[in-house]
Amino acid sequence: EKGGYEHFMLKEIHEQPKAYRDTMLGRIDHANHQVVLPELKLSVEQIKNIRNVHIVACGTAYNAGLIGRTVIEQFARIPVENDVASEYRYRSPIITPETLVIVVSQSGETADTLAALREARANGAHVLAITNVVGSSIARDADDVLVTLAGPEIAVASTKAYTSQLIAFYLFGLYLAQVRGTMNKEEVAHVLAAMEALPEQVEAMLGQADPIKTYAEHIAKHKHLFFIGRGQDYAVVQEGSLKLKEISYIHSEAYAAGELKHGTLALIEEGIPVISLVTQESVMEKTVSNIKEVKARGAEVLAISYEEHAAELLKSVDHVITIPKTLPILTAAISVVTLQLLAYYASLALGHDVDKPRNLAKSVTVE
Ligand code: F6R
Repeated sequence: EKGGYEHFMLKEIHEQPKAYRDTMLGRIDHANHQVVLPELKLSVEQIKNIRNVHIVACGTAYNAGLIGRTVIEQFARIPVENDVASEYRYRSPIITPETLVIVVSQSGETADTLAALREARANGAHVLAITNVVGSSIARDADDVLVTLAGPEIAVASTKAYTSQLIAFYLFGLYLAQVRGTMNKEEVAHVLAAMEALPEQVEAMLGQADPIKTYAEHIAKHKHLFFIGRGQDYAVVQEGSLKLKEISYIHSEAYAAGELKHGTLALIEEGIPVISLVTQESVMEKTVSNIKEVKARGAEVLAISYEEHAAELLKSVDHVITIPKTLPILTAAISVVTLQLLAYYASLALGHDVDKPRNLAKSVTVE
């Protein structure tokens, strides 16, 4: 049941703080400031021997894997590649027994992801599944399962499953870092404290959705728009763009902010909305220059950033929406919520079937 919400999607967006808490529950040892994942068969020896990681998934789960990559690379310093499951098998990926393959799937039934899992295992890799469904085919066939505790997701557009996958990646990345000694106790404790603040931060955001709704009603008049970002923000806007296309049918493209000038800038014309996600302070100045490039060509720019940067950003953009601040590596778990709400309210404004967009199924069991 929709529990008083107009759509399952909105209900599931609001269930995210709980999904974060449930996915962390029992996996953080507060006394010792460490992550505990007793369910994993992956041994200390195996973890020490991992040479590379492949993250394989489809759609939104693939997008979660993009964040997973930055998390594992930063925390554990292991090289990571992301693959779309339907491409993975056919590119003869270099898989060895020292390869850890992580498949990500809300349903655990996606045919391409399951086939990729089987291929990886046949090549001797250890396969870890991050899934929301314990008894699913993917959970059954994997060597290890890290369950996300998002609860059933009914809306076709995935929201709380994606963010729970992020939490799973944060936990797993820290776990790898502990075993491999790439982070010390204080560093792990620092990240854990920031993770534990996320649910309340998201709750606060959910209570302040009006500016997002207003902006969504505004973009609903447009046929095309762009998302830009750098680093984590680039990964998040890819998910935001998918979500918007999926349920509002507004065409959008997500671009690495620095890449626009290599062709796409030709599409920027008077009045086109450009949504820039600007949370990564180390590259903020660079993103602002990219914003100026699109502004100079007539784009109308929204910046999503932290309160402390709003005044400065308003010198270069038309609108600012602020979000709560967290560590740079964890921002996706906050910023994506704004983009989910944006897609939701745009779809609503256009009168579409939010929970059941045309042409799509919740679980894709054909290759
Ligand atoms: C988009 C969406 C899809 C799924 C994809 C993979 O909102 O839900 O892109 O993420 O079909 O599904 P799972 O995670 O069940 O393997």
